[in-house]
Amino acid sequence: MTSSVVGCRIAVAVCGGIAAYKVASLVSQLVRLDAQVDVLMTEEAKRFVSALTFGALTHRAVHEDPWQLDNQGEIAHIALARSIDLLVVAPATAHTLARLAHGLADDVVTLIALATPAPVLLAPAMDAGMYGHPAVTENVTTLQQRGYHVVGPRSGRLASGLTGLGRLAEPDEIVAAVEALLHWRRDLAGVRIAVTAGGTQEPIDPVRFIGNRSSGKMGYAIAQAAVERGANVTLVSAPTSLPAPPRVTQVAIQTALELREALHGLLDQVDVIIQAAAVADYRVADPETTKIKRSGEALVLELVENPDIIAGIGALPQHPLLVGFAAETGAHLDEARAKLRRKGLDLIVFNDVSKQGSGFGSDMNEVTLVPARGEPEVLPLLPKLDVAHRLLDRVRDMLQASARSVL
Ligand code: CTP
Repeated sequence: MTSSVVGCRIAVAVCGGIAAYKVASLVSQLVRLDAQVDVLMTEEAKRFVSALTFGALTHRAVHEDPWQLDNQGEIAHIALARSIDLLVVAPATAHTLARLAHGLADDVVTLIALATPAPVLLAPAMDAGMYGHPAVTENVTTLQQRGYHVVGPRSGRLASGLTGLGRLAEPDEIVAAVEALLHWRRDLAGVRIAVTAGGTQEPIDPVRFIGNRSSGKMGYAIAQAAVERGANVTLVSAPTSLPAPPRVTQVAIQTALELREALHGLLDQVDVIIQAAAVADYRVADPETTKIKRSGEALVLELVENPDIIAGIGALPQHPLLVGFAAETGAHLDEARAKLRRKGLDLIVFNDVSKQGSGFGSDMNEVTLVPARGEPEVLPLLPKLDVAHRLLDRVRDMLQASARSVL
């Protein structure tokens, strides 16, 4: 099978750690797989390996100077940022992880990481003890939440002679991670997708609302995965504690009615709507405009039904491809199928939220993809980002097969 790396443009950012010498082998492997590789180096990296090493391996000039113009007179690393399919940072040192987490832009490596719309793969390496430090752990978590991918580090003997977690992943393992990321390379380029996420909040008074347990993680993972595959993504989000994935257009909503308005505004601008938001079926008929005070008596709230947003869109004579979710407790596939038909959806993602370790709040999900035509696909328990990619595989296939084809 041909490697997904063939013909791709990959930037490898080398930072100042002893593992920098291993990156020469990584770069050499990528070049042999027929990728076009550009290397960027921090000043500290050059203390370990020379730019000449990478220049000789790639047959291309190494980026070292943020003030360098390319042949077209453009700032070289910015032009590169826009043209690459993937950025690999290896070794990602504790210092560079901190700079990336804080959005610093003080050398070619941090500049390209900020400027590129391509996915970023970090291969951390540092001495034992450092990787376990809460500062480093938090920086890695922050970067992962922003959509960066991480390979390694591994445990083993470190350059200092200590043994511990901090060895750079082997070049083979990094190449495998690169291949997995490039597998989907831009197969949704040009597709416009609206993703909704989070649980709507229906006000009771100015300080209280009716909400639900949705964390928004599934919708955010879909938005991130779609952006990585080249889609143009609008994320319509109810309040969540999640950072916006990079490069998505975010629209903040709070209530079901606001969500409906936002989606209707996007109807003729998108090819696909993925309704992952947990929409409140009821809202308070007449929310108070001032805070409700304790009265010593029972409080009765009148609730009225919210419109079924996705069903309303599904009933329109023309609409984007529609994907809905059916988060059920102990329900069956047949009920998900009935929901799909009732709402006029093209696909429904069915999951049993009563299962441990899956669904609300979790980083994992175990779902079945139920298309309007064709067989359901039962997926194993997977990280939500992987579920997102499997769902987008189906969306891509459906777009290709339909008259709506934009691919
Ligand atoms: N949905 C919607 N508008 C609503 C309620 C739900 O667009 N007012 C969408 C959800 O975002 C989801 C799908 O419809 O994509 C199924 O949601 P679910 O809550 O499972 O369906 P309900 O129609 O509310 O059915 P139930 O009676 O099972 O709650």
